[in-house]
Amino acid sequence: MNVLRFSDLVQQGQVAGKRVFIRADLNVPQDDAGRITEDTRIRASIPCIELALKAGAAVMVTSHLGRPTEGEFKPEDSLAPVAQRMAELMGREVPLRSNWVDGVEVAPGQVVLLENCRLNAGEKKNKEDLARKMAGLCDIFVHDAFGTAHRAEASTYGIAQYAPVACAGPLLGAEIDAISKALAAPKRPLLAIVAGSKVSTKLTILQSLSKNVDGLIVGGGIANTFMLAAGLKIGKSLAEPDLVGDARAVIEAMKARGAEVPIPVDVVCAKTFAADAPATVKAAADVADDDLILDIGPKTAALLADKLKAAGTIVWNGPVGVFEFDSFAHGTETVARAIAASPAFSIAGGGDTLAAIAKYGIEKDVGYISTGGGAFLEVLEGKTLPAFEILSRRAAG
Ligand code: 3PG
Repeated sequence: MNVLRFSDLVQQGQVAGKRVFIRADLNVPQDDAGRITEDTRIRASIPCIELALKAGAAVMVTSHLGRPTEGEFKPEDSLAPVAQRMAELMGREVPLRSNWVDGVEVAPGQVVLLENCRLNAGEKKNKEDLARKMAGLCDIFVHDAFGTAHRAEASTYGIAQYAPVACAGPLLGAEIDAISKALAAPKRPLLAIVAGSKVSTKLTILQSLSKNVDGLIVGGGIANTFMLAAGLKIGKSLAEPDLVGDARAVIEAMKARGAEVPIPVDVVCAKTFAADAPATVKAAADVADDDLILDIGPKTAALLADKLKAAGTIVWNGPVGVFEFDSFAHGTETVARAIAASPAFSIAGGGDTLAAIAKYGIEKDVGYISTGGGAFLEVLEGKTLPAFEILSRRAAG
């Protein structure tokens, strides 16, 4: 993807003394008291800010936090806890500015955080007057918010249209590179793991990947629907019988290309959905009417692990079982450890996937961990995200 990169502008000496507006994704989870419970996105946003500061820019950073009502400030919508965490991580002051659309005072070598951009009227609908005002605040607009790259809002899209220069920050650039390496020019075989509770929420992803990947590993409730499509019984497990036809079509599309959707040969069942429910391993053909499938079985896990270790590229979205319950975590752990041990380039994304990666401590062994939730899923659907579309349009002049 041809986009202008902020790091190139820095290298060319075009940033010193300039006003740089960075759109980051600092939308982090918080507890009821407003404390940040997970700060990956803040950490991931800092290299861009430091790059701009080191280059001598006057730096403005903004992000959304949650989905507030435009024009109605509530304390819980404030980026204040983010400013504080950012200041701790950067070892410098990060003042928070409110009501910033009509002007921001910031000197070269200084960084200010601009309050939750979704409080500005017109943000969600990408209103032109708001986007133009924001663009007027800066010389260079840097999009570094991959997690929000699937939204066309005033601070992500409109500003990129009207700013004198619009480019991709290092985080967005790294995501573009990892996605291209995995999906546009993958080392084969390319395996994708698509797991989750419902086929309906990931059907377009399954359909899109079925045109590209060599193996499509399904897990969770999605695998149950595929088991139904393969003629197996699944007892009272979570599934969507209405989508069996779509699952069958994915299996057929893969088969026609000489690719495969491995269907579980064994499963781990329980009679109730509970952490302490007794777990029973069964052949896939032996699932009883009152069984709930909560994980893939050890034979299936071993078969998948072998495939993952022989892959050239792996795309991972979703745990294959209820890994939050220890008795039903073996499948996800085996898959996670096989990805970690595989020489393949791997890319992983999505909230549950990140939780599984953290649980098994394999962060360093995954090729790239995406900061995107919905954005990562839309990439897997084969969509061109608005951020990439506008930045490549600007790069083309
Ligand atoms: C996310 O958390 O996935 C991003 O920050 C996007 O948030 P949104 O779904 O509220 O646009």
